[in-house]
Amino acid sequence: MPLFALLFLFCALLRPVPKSCSGPISYGVAVGWQYLAYVCVTFGCLRHTYFSLLVMRAKQLADFLFTTSLTLSYFPYSEAVGSMDYFYFNGLYVGSYDYVRSLILDAKRERSLSLGSVALSLPRSFSPLTPVFFSTGSPYHSAWRTVFFREFTRRADVQAMLADDAAGLAAVAAPYIREWLAVGDFHTREHVSACIFRLLARILFGIETVPQSLLAAAQAFGSSMGAFTAVAPAWAHSLLCGKLQASYGEPARYGLSSYLLEHCNAAKPAALKGRPFDWAAMAAECLRSGALADDEGHRPGSGGHADAPLDPAHVRSYVQSVVDGLLFAGLIGTSTLVDTSALPRLRGVYKPEGGRPETLLSAAEHLALYRQRPRPWLLEAVRLQPPVMSSSKVTPAGGTRCPFRGAERILPEGTFVVANLYHASTDPAAWGNDAHDFKPGRPADKYLNWNGPFGGDAPRQCPGEHLSLEMGKALVDAWVEAKAPPLEA
Ligand code: HEM
Repeated sequence: MPLFALLFLFCALLRPVPKSCSGPISYGVAVGWQYLAYVCVTFGCLRHTYFSLLVMRAKQLADFLFTTSLTLSYFPYSEAVGSMDYFYFNGLYVGSYDYVRSLILDAKRERSLSLGSVALSLPRSFSPLTPVFFSTGSPYHSAWRTVFFREFTRRADVQAMLADDAAGLAAVAAPYIREWLAVGDFHTREHVSACIFRLLARILFGIETVPQSLLAAAQAFGSSMGAFTAVAPAWAHSLLCGKLQASYGEPARYGLSSYLLEHCNAAKPAALKGRPFDWAAMAAECLRSGALADDEGHRPGSGGHADAPLDPAHVRSYVQSVVDGLLFAGLIGTSTLVDTSALPRLRGVYKPEGGRPETLLSAAEHLALYRQRPRPWLLEAVRLQPPVMSSSKVTPAGGTRCPFRGAERILPEGTFVVANLYHASTDPAAWGNDAHDFKPGRPADKYLNWNGPFGGDAPRQCPGEHLSLEMGKALVDAWVEAKAPPLEA
């Protein structure tokens, strides 16, 4: 611990400074540290040692705390180290578009609870049940997706809402959106996330009125602290964040799953306040399809043979995995799409992070472009300010070739590799020299922001792609109609 503290203090002094305002010494230190991280991750006698762990974590914890408040600011960081592909925190962050695309399309992408270039297996009590931790194509993951699509985002009534320019969704959403626009500071995260949560609850679970306590819990989850508890590496959670989890994470996670088991459950007809789901059958379908899968974070619960009666704990675990996926990607992702990617541009308050060289349009220009082609406009807003910044894999046996500082290097098995959607979305090699400019109408299948080419069917394409875009559009349409200056005659 004292060694870590000393290293941390030392590293705080060596935090990255954007290249534009750094001298050769600090640039050299930043790049030197990148090579040191590379050696820690790949070199036989250092790999998987606590020395490497301390060196990597102390440096990057200091960067994390001193470059920004709670989230990594990608642009200044890549400027500081002079590359879009760099070691950070828990592995190699790759921003090169072609590599990111191939990672995202990899049908056998390993996911696990291995939390970094030094593989750590956390005790199961820390296991996040979030579906994004299941290995791609594992029997459990495939079954989980099949059930999720069928019961939620591709259910017939949800698809009907999305048909005909999502007219049905707009009608269902209208009363909730009216209430959203009626509050004073409606564009803040607190109110956007409340509206999105109510829409998700109504559309996916048939819950007309969300109880106030659950709504407050969802708002806490949607806040920056809640998002931190959802996305910070679990090793940071377990060390620092018990209280944060109890205040910001757990009330929404357990509150929503308890509500669904009590009030949206075919097994409890007298208590229904939403759609009657057969949770036990859904859990059984996933668990039994995955019964042969291994138990290391690939499916919730443990044990269980194909024919054994389903333990209620497994049903609860399954419901929790649905809830975690929804809160994590659905609530935070869609709220960010609205209040961070879209509205600031239309309100004329958008600022590119960390001095990114983006040619800015005025609010009036954005409004005109939005009115002409709202969906391509939203895609472009999402490209430049991705609501979900990354996806990842753990390198399989035999290692993987990855780009690092202009060359392809082989990273050994068990290395954490992050597909950095933020950099991939502005890689000039893929998007051209105007990559940083806001130009709606680029080819839709180049956008990878929903974890696959937009409108495609990648192995773990976001199941909420279409729904979240249309929910976002419903909110922005209503904002434009109610709050934006009217069109010139
Ligand atoms: C209705 C709203 C949404 C729902 C229901 C939803 C649902 C999900 C689910 C269940 C997963 C896990 C899929 C799997 O592991 O196979 C997922 C992953 C993902 N979603 Fe969504 N999502 C929504 C909105 C969004 C938005 C707005 C974005 C960003 C534009 C987004 C981007 C992603 C990404 C990048 C992943 C992969 C994350 C990773 O691999 O770590 N989602 N989503």
